[in-house]
Formats: sequence, C-alpha cells, structure tokens
Amino acid sequence: MAAGRDEPAPVRHRGRGGAPAGRGLGFAPGQALSGPVDLRLRAALVGCSVHYLESVGSTNAVLRSMAASGAPEGTVVVADEQTEGRGRAGRAWFSPPGVGLWLSVLLAPRLPPRELVPLSMVTAVSVADALRRDFGIDARIKWPNDVYAGGRKLGGILLESLQGAGGPVEWVVVGIGLNVNLDAGDLPPDIASTAVSMRMLLKRPVSRLEVLRTILDGFDEDWARFEREGFGGFRERCVALSTVLGRSIEVVSDAGTIQGTAVDLTSDGALVVEDGRGRRTEVWHGDVRALGRDG
Ligand code: BTN
Repeated sequence: MAAGRDEPAPVRHRGRGGAPAGRGLGFAPGQALSGPVDLRLRAALVGCSVHYLESVGSTNAVLRSMAASGAPEGTVVVADEQTEGRGRAGRAWFSPPGVGLWLSVLLAPRLPPRELVPLSMVTAVSVADALRRDFGIDARIKWPNDVYAGGRKLGGILLESLQGAGGPVEWVVVGIGLNVNLDAGDLPPDIASTAVSMRMLLKRPVSRLEVLRTILDGFDEDWARFEREGFGGFRERCVALSTVLGRSIEVVSDAGTIQGTAVDLTSDGALVVEDGRGRRTEVWHGDVRALGRDG
C-alpha cells in the first residue's frame, strides 16, 4: 500500500505508537477521537466519537461488538484496511490498505423496522450527494444501495441491524465502503471492469480525511431528516440520481428473477418494475442488472 499516497499533512497525532506521518488518515490508530474537535466535523451526532483502526476484519463487526459494550449512537469506526470486508449477499468487499474509506456508523433508530428498509438507499444518496457537492463527481445511485459514477461502482452500503426477538431494532450498523485512491491496476480481475475510484474519475489523488468529513457531516443531517420525514424526504432525490429508472433491467433475488422496465420508486423505497404487458411489481431486495445495449 501506498503509505503517504493520498493524505496531506497529518491533522493531529495522539497517544503512543501511531502510524507514520502521512500513513492512514493522519491519526494514531486505536484512539477514540472526537469528531467535532479532532476531525473538525460540523456533525452533531454522527461522528461524535470516531475510532480509527489500522487493520480490522470488518468495521461492521467491530462496531457491532462496540454497540454490545455500550458505545453511543453516532460512534464511527474507520479502518485503513479490512481483511474480511463484507459486501451484500455474503460477498467479500475488497478493502486494501491506504486507498479507501471503509467505515461504519452506529445508529439507534426510533423508527419501526419496516420504515428502516430504505435506509441503505438513503445512505447511498447521502454519499452520492456529498461527492457531487464537494468533489464535483457525477455520482448516482444504483438501486438499492450502490454508489455509481461513470457507469461503474464507486461504493456500496451494507446495513446490519441488531434486534431483540420480535422487538424493536436496537441498533443499526451502517457500513460504507468507498473506493477513494485505488488505481485501475489495484482492482482485482473480478471487479476490474465494473469498479472505479475517485482518483480514477478525478485523475488526481484525494484526501481520504476530506472525504470522511464530508460524508459524516452530510450523513448527520440526512439521518436526522430520515428520522423526521422518513423516505418521503429523499424519494425525489433518489429518483433524480437513479441509474436504473427508465431502463430495461433484470432483478435477481431469493424470490426469483424478474425482467422489465424500472419505472418508479414507491413512497417507501421499493423499485417498481413493469413487464411487457404493463403489469407492475414492487421489488424490495435484489441485484439489478441492466439489459440490452449497455447492460
Ligand atoms: C456492497 O456489497 O456493495 C456493500 C459493501 C459495503 C462495504 C463496507 S466497507 C465498511 C463496512 N464494513 C464491511 O465489512 N462492509 C462495509
């Protein structure tokens, strides 16, 4: 990995035995940082406490166990590298050191479980908006939870919730993976033609710390709005930034495969797919593949 490949001068080193200057995010690993003080976040809740770790299996797994030990809502775990990064549907998430943002945010929702279903899409649109606003990237979302740019996958979201039997959702761990400074040559063959990074798009390296700040500040506002307004507060934005609406697609899920045109998002986040006879189906989960000329 690319020590010093992407960061400006370190912001602040704390504690003993940290990473060499320029490595990682510029913080000594293993310390609890205050988001507002150490990272200069505006965020009120998300990032109230930020734990930067050098190498972990999965930030989602680390944060789940921190939640069980009483970590407060808004706690963030961010790692330089994940050795067992998790993707959707049991897939692995390529998370090499020094070049990505691999992070998880702990939320304590005050919403019933069914209203949380679109939270992964809301997170994707929050990340896409942050990249549009502060980096000028034409980031979009591919239903239900991918961040896309230039027709390739730039990032993904993985939600894991902790719920007592039949009871309310106690915690949601929101995992965000974003390819920041990977080069085309860093991508393994299975994703070489489908993935992209901010660096590849912008043709320059990007400070991961800047990206972290903008994502956490944006998500802090969006999470508060989601709790207030639900998916209704985001539907229009999701429609505007969708890569699948209006396209001929195939959705593959445990329930089977359906083909048709993606025509709408419902007020609670389902994708509406219309077949050749005009019959509409609402789809809640699955992998979307575009069909036809540029599928
Ligand atoms: C996807 O399959 O698109 C979701 C990828 C989510 C990856 C992130 S990286 C940080 C967090 N920790 C994990 O193990 N996975 C998520």
